[in-house]
Amino acid sequence: MRKPIYALGGAGLLLSVSMLAAQAQTVEPTTPPDPPAFEAQGTPNFVGITDMFEYKALPEYHEPEWVTSEYVDTGKLPPVGERLPKEPLVYKTANMPDGTGVYGDVMRHVIGGRPEGWNYIGGQSQGWGGIDIGLSECLTRTGPLFQVRAEELAPLPNLAKSWEWSEDGHELTMHLIEGAKWSDGEPFTADDVMFYWEDNVLDPNVAPLNGATPESFGPNTTLEKVDDYTIKWTFEAVEPKQYLYTMAYGTFCPGPSHLLKPQHPKYSDNTYEQYKNAFPPEYLGIPTMGAWVPVEYRPDDIVVMRRNPYYWKVDEAGNQLPYLDEMHYRLSTWADRDVQAVAGSGDFSNLEQAESYVEALRRSADEDAPARLAFGARTIGYTLDLNLSANGWGEPDERAQKVRELNRELDFRKAVSIGLDRQRLGESLVRGPFTAIYPGGLYAGTAYYDKDSTAYYAHDMAAANALLDGLGLEDTDGNGIRNFAGGGDDVEITLLANTDYGTETNLAEGIIAQMEPLGLRVIANFQQGTARDDMQQSGQFDWVMRRPGSEVVSVVQATETLAPTGPRTSHFHRAGTDGTVDLLPFEEELVDAVNGFINTSDNAERAELMKTYQKLFTENVYSIGLTQYPGALIINKRFANIPEGAPIFMFNWAEDNIIRERVYVPEDRQGNFELHPQTLPAEPGSSTGTM
Ligand code: GLA
Repeated sequence: MRKPIYALGGAGLLLSVSMLAAQAQTVEPTTPPDPPAFEAQGTPNFVGITDMFEYKALPEYHEPEWVTSEYVDTGKLPPVGERLPKEPLVYKTANMPDGTGVYGDVMRHVIGGRPEGWNYIGGQSQGWGGIDIGLSECLTRTGPLFQVRAEELAPLPNLAKSWEWSEDGHELTMHLIEGAKWSDGEPFTADDVMFYWEDNVLDPNVAPLNGATPESFGPNTTLEKVDDYTIKWTFEAVEPKQYLYTMAYGTFCPGPSHLLKPQHPKYSDNTYEQYKNAFPPEYLGIPTMGAWVPVEYRPDDIVVMRRNPYYWKVDEAGNQLPYLDEMHYRLSTWADRDVQAVAGSGDFSNLEQAESYVEALRRSADEDAPARLAFGARTIGYTLDLNLSANGWGEPDERAQKVRELNRELDFRKAVSIGLDRQRLGESLVRGPFTAIYPGGLYAGTAYYDKDSTAYYAHDMAAANALLDGLGLEDTDGNGIRNFAGGGDDVEITLLANTDYGTETNLAEGIIAQMEPLGLRVIANFQQGTARDDMQQSGQFDWVMRRPGSEVVSVVQATETLAPTGPRTSHFHRAGTDGTVDLLPFEEELVDAVNGFINTSDNAERAELMKTYQKLFTENVYSIGLTQYPGALIINKRFANIPEGAPIFMFNWAEDNIIRERVYVPEDRQGNFELHPQTLPAEPGSSTGTM
């Protein structure tokens, strides 16, 4: 093992180290270097919300011809007009890039995750990669907002088709789509919404998949059913429009209460674990409000979905959506998703693992390449989160508790931050203009980012070592690893990372290597995605790698996760056994800035609050930003209606952004990929999957 710099030499060097220490305290941060120029390939055609769709009854409705002949004419299904709600959501032709579509074909996804089961609101993962996005419909919708004009930016209606605020601004009444049905024909009503809220969000024993907690909707918020199609929110704040974003994916997407409720411990003898696992992946035909329904599952192989005969969205000609009859999710690896999409054996990828950029670009440049590839802005990145809970969250042992106490020291976080060479970390993934230094907090290039409010401590090993010395972390036993102050054990820190992503483990290995000369032993705790997520959610980590979400890109989506605004809203600082969060003083200010942002719609004020946030975040090295880079959407050229300039990630992932229910394949380009042609999902729990 290489000897750490700080341990070299005798008294003379010790003197210079302490001089450095004195210097380090006065080292001032600078602003971060400008990211290398990188042009996004494609700009959205910006529109207003009402240009996209409306809710209205149409004089006639249509469906694939085989649905009518095989299912309606044989009495297995009511006619399409009776399956649709009173006023379906109607996509406007003028907003469809290629206009009205035709039925048929498949989108062949490849994913790296694995479904745990279908109980999304009970906390089960479906394996990501667009599965849950396609199954879940939420009160509002935000993915497609990348193409909405800035002045009109607001969440899109979805299951909630309209809403109004009370005069005093504390109450929000929402009108649900009327007469819509789950994919098994059962009515969707306010009871589904109330079951989600009361027995999942409010029940502390349930942790819905994407982290909805009561506080995600503001302190002491209440929700009540007014009638089957009306719900009423009451907020402490006045017109907190921000929560309309929290009502989108992934925090307010109700599940089928007619199936889930009887399994919930409140209404059964089940334990919470049994409730969560009541609908394993083998369970076919789980009722959805989404456009497709699972009809086949083969472990480590594939999930197949067929069109939802009750889907409640149509085009202007009255054609029931989706246009695509089938969806595949090949259960492979994320890296294989890139390879297959480029090669044409898969149809879709969010190119986000920078190691494969050069090869993917090279192969897509060919005129005959099966897929188009378009880069967007730098909205993908990684951060290193330090567990700041010294309050028992995740039940740390003695060593882990000591690490958390270190994590809470500013000088420690600074030392780790300046001990990292971000330039090298980025270049270890890919060379060229892709990666940029990420100092932490909001991503550069997003609307609320302010460079002058961003403190950047440049890479400086000597200063990093001096800071660690200053904390009394000395290598008392001469083994090259610093010991906890007072002659304790070696400082050993575990780093939790997700093995589903090569990029993540590559970066984690880089961190481990770069911490070694500082005398910090970082130990890889590399876990497969689901296990990693469970450990992170339950606080069982010292350090964890994370790909920040929309909160640092759009800022208006998932805003509550920017700080511990509630006991369970932050990614790395949550309540302990007593239900409270042991906030550091600057975190109180962070919380104020975030709450201030949530509670005002005044743009100038919001911009100022985010400057404050960014300054507090980066000066205090709240979490350790690593690298940020652009992603590219790869999609097979046979698909039509892919919106121009669709980012792989902004308010949501591209699987939502491109509005898959509107995507189609022109007749002359349709492939022969359907595994269950001309079939529809069977009743829930059926062993055959299709009718
Ligand atoms: C995973 C993938 C993303 C995206 C999301 C969708 O996180 O890495 O590219 O497909 O799933 O949920």
